[in-house]
Amino acid sequence: MMKLWNQEAAQWRLELSMDGEALSLRMGDAPRQMTVALGKREDLNCEILRQAAAKAVKSVRDLGGESAVLDAAPALEALGEEGLAALALGAELAGYRQPDWKQAHKEQKPFTLYVAGAPEGEKAVQEAAVLAKAVCFARDLTNCPANRLTPEIMAQRVTEAAKALGLETQIVDEKEARALGMEAFLAVGESSGNPPRLIIVRYKGGQEGARPIVLVGKGVTFDSGGYSLKQAAGMKGMNSDMAGGAAVSGAILALAENKVPVNVTAVIPAVENRISPVSFLPSDVIGSMSGKTIQIGSTDAEGRLILADAVTYAIQKENAAKVVDIATLTGAMARMFGHVTTGYLSNCDAFSAQLEAAAVKSGEKFWRLPTFPEYRKMIDSPVADLYNTSDGAGAIAAGLFVGAFAGDTPWIHLDIAGTSSTSAPHKEYQAKGATGVGVTTLYELCKSMEG
Ligand code: BES
Ligand code: ZN
Ligand code: ZN
Repeated sequence: MMKLWNQEAAQWRLELSMDGEALSLRMGDAPRQMTVALGKREDLNCEILRQAAAKAVKSVRDLGGESAVLDAAPALEALGEEGLAALALGAELAGYRQPDWKQAHKEQKPFTLYVAGAPEGEKAVQEAAVLAKAVCFARDLTNCPANRLTPEIMAQRVTEAAKALGLETQIVDEKEARALGMEAFLAVGESSGNPPRLIIVRYKGGQEGARPIVLVGKGVTFDSGGYSLKQAAGMKGMNSDMAGGAAVSGAILALAENKVPVNVTAVIPAVENRISPVSFLPSDVIGSMSGKTIQIGSTDAEGRLILADAVTYAIQKENAAKVVDIATLTGAMARMFGHVTTGYLSNCDAFSAQLEAAAVKSGEKFWRLPTFPEYRKMIDSPVADLYNTSDGAGAIAAGLFVGAFAGDTPWIHLDIAGTSSTSAPHKEYQAKGATGVGVTTLYELCKSMEG
């Protein structure tokens, strides 16, 4: 928790200095004093402050401390309220621990970081705390084992959190999905004894009647690959194949709690990709809500199938003005950009520029991939409108497959297969496991559409 008052209560004194090495931390002369060095003054930005705050909190906590006061005056002179919000986000996220189900579960001692040298900014700190809570919500869902987060449980947890903030929610079950013609969503969803759910959350904070931006998040609560079965090593971590769904949930909850004046809808197709006697098979030709037919090259390319119907739902039923989909979609993207950068595709330069601007605010990294018409041919099928695999360029082909259902609606596709989880955190405010990637950028993107 970060506070701006009662600083006398702090056990430790922390200073931010701008002449040492970035993010190095050294003991000061007096006991219980540390200096967090931020690097050169001209290089200072919010991301450095996020990481500095996280490093400071973790360091004091490792030494047994429960509170510290941070004198941030020089940094805040340069970065103002945004800097303060960055400190708060870093400090809050530094305390994240993944859920466990141990009999002897131990709660972590709370830690308080007080900030001195902030002229004002209670609101900025509060907004950042809400955002951090949303990132932790997304991380918690993403770190959840598959048996403790089935599509039904995911639907319950997301809608409960949304209802607590007064949001409108809807859960489409398999019968309703059948009536809507969501054959691609159901092809995957009916491969499992745990039935599929389409989760919808609506936040109407903007002008009445204004068309919403719709955030579509892949919610595969476990991806075994289906009959195109994954090898054991590749199946590890596939309980986190719903990180996109978790990210859009976190983003809409934060937008609502912070009362950002926009209309945003989250649509999450939640399914398990498994093997059953009625599972779909490679070679199958299936339909979709859009009417387009799809030939199955691999049942392991399930994400694009459920996203196809979710994007159609967003456009036809939610009247989306713009669509962003976010998904752990391809191993190809993870191999290309590792845990650092989220690759994206878009059919709209202006919308892409808005994403890039949001990313500067959030500190998350994105890189746009090409969508030349030659790539579109890769997902042609001889017998259906589309093929769900490609011969090469896997990340682009997968994105373009989803884009085929967006049509002319401004659309962005974020493939977080590499960035949604990490075994070696590269930021001070990350922990091993789920990163909660996308929550802050989607929040900033929607916020930038205010009014
Ligand atoms: N969920 C996976 C993608 C993935 C891989 C996410 C690694 C996180 C880490 C996705 O459903 C998948 O299996 N994709 C296949 C597509 C292929 C069969 C065309 C892949 O990338 O191998
Ligand atoms: Zn798969
Ligand atoms: Zn998957």
